[in-house]
Amino acid sequence: MASEEKDGTTRPAERPLLVLDDVYAGYGRAAMVLRGLSVKVPPRTVVCLVGPNGAGKSTVLKVASGLLRPREGRVVVDGSDVTGQGPQQMLRSGLAHVLQGHSVFREMTVEENVLLGAYTLRDRARIAERVAFVQELFPIVGERWKQLAGLLSGGQQKQVEFARSLMIDPKVVLLDEPSMGLDPKTTATVFQQITRMRDAGTAVLLVEQNARRALETADLGCVLDLGRVHISGPAAELLADQRLSELYLGGRPRSTA
Ligand SMILES: Nc1ncnc2c1ncn2[C@@H]1O[C@H](COP(=O)(O)OP(=O)(O)O)[C@@H](O)[C@H]1O
Ligand SMILES: [Mg+2]
Repeated sequence: MASEEKDGTTRPAERPLLVLDDVYAGYGRAAMVLRGLSVKVPPRTVVCLVGPNGAGKSTVLKVASGLLRPREGRVVVDGSDVTGQGPQQMLRSGLAHVLQGHSVFREMTVEENVLLGAYTLRDRARIAERVAFVQELFPIVGERWKQLAGLLSGGQQKQVEFARSLMIDPKVVLLDEPSMGLDPKTTATVFQQITRMRDAGTAVLLVEQNARRALETADLGCVLDLGRVHISGPAAELLADQRLSELYLGGRPRSTA
């Protein structure tokens, strides 16, 4: 999978960290939700999958994190085929999933919430190193470390969830609608934190209904429709595409508005 550079050398590091290849998945006997879905997440990249409510965005992340087994197709993490593995194994393979909605335990401290993400780590020095890392990346998490998580605002709680997911130093973080329920200003902060996660070395697969805002943050974008990715490319190009804008992003591109 190594890509060939112009000078003839290969760069194995550019192999995608996560590949979902021609995935079919669904629930029980109901019609398949994903029908031939493919998506790739390269290193140091925020990939955003947009699509309307019910399109199957959360289902994509569930397949990636092992919460839902695909009926067909493959899940490949950093070159290893992990298709059919459960959530524990996927976590060990380097996929961390931040679920839709809020998963912070309000009656526990920020520290306790974040350390839940380290339960697979045994080495105390390693845990301390990761704590220092997430506190630097998300300053509010460090500032509120000993407080009850329920006292934090929605946007701050989202950052606690991000910090928890980064404790295992995942290869890819799967973020399910991180802006849900947040006001526009808080959403902007949370999206800024997503690019900081990427800049600190974690690839991100983000799914969002808030398509325009998410594409403004992402490097690459994919549009999910009828169970598969219909259009994909650099996020800026998707945003600039007038037809796409009208069909999927609720209006004209901002530059011509
Ligand atoms: N646990 C489940 N059991 C049965 N059907 C489900 C379940 N979760 C989701 N679905 C159905 O799968 C489809 C896609 O859902 P989902 O992936 O949650 O969409 P999105 O995240 O894009 O809103 C919807 O029709 C939804 O009703
Ligand atoms: Mg969803």
